[in-house]
Amino acid sequence: MNAEKNSQNTSSPNRKPSLETPTEEHSVLFVCLGNICRSPAAEEIFRTIVTRNGDSDRFEIDSAGTYSGHAGDLPDRRMRMAAFGRGYRLTHRARPVRRDDFERFDTIVSMDDSIYESLHRLAPDRRAAERIVRMTDYCRHHAGVRYVPDPYYEGPSGFELVLDLLEDACEGLYDSLRKDMER
Ligand code: 4NP
Repeated sequence: MNAEKNSQNTSSPNRKPSLETPTEEHSVLFVCLGNICRSPAAEEIFRTIVTRNGDSDRFEIDSAGTYSGHAGDLPDRRMRMAAFGRGYRLTHRARPVRRDDFERFDTIVSMDDSIYESLHRLAPDRRAAERIVRMTDYCRHHAGVRYVPDPYYEGPSGFELVLDLLEDACEGLYDSLRKDMER
């Protein structure tokens, strides 16, 4: 949660937000290249974890792409089918990431190095850039993996690998954010 949002939502500087009385939301934006494979899958996986934990009212979740060529499209059919096989229904419509996303989102999650660099170029200032994190830094079962590979030119196993990484990383990200929110 960024400082501006905290100051709006906390009535006393000493008051600690309690789990029973939510006082704030945390917003998370997942970003890949086309916003039709990795990030809409991450968005739905993360939303499923949040919902399962009864935290839907505490999180705003969205996804976007650094490339605008697929704007308005549903996720790639191959990704929709692979995700559906694990119980996720992907209905997001692709959109390009915007500069004002850095005002709206507390955490901006990059899928790979190229996206990470593009996001840093787009960030309006250093403070905004500090909200950019790498998806694979939250993996707990896929230690050593440094990026979520672009599955666009891959076969079915590429999509399954992406989902394996995202399920692992989204669990780790949720636990990490939840701990921060309890502080
Ligand atoms: P994504 O995958 O970044 O995970 O959505 C891609 C989708 C489309 C393209 C590349 C990657 N493309 O070149 O159109």
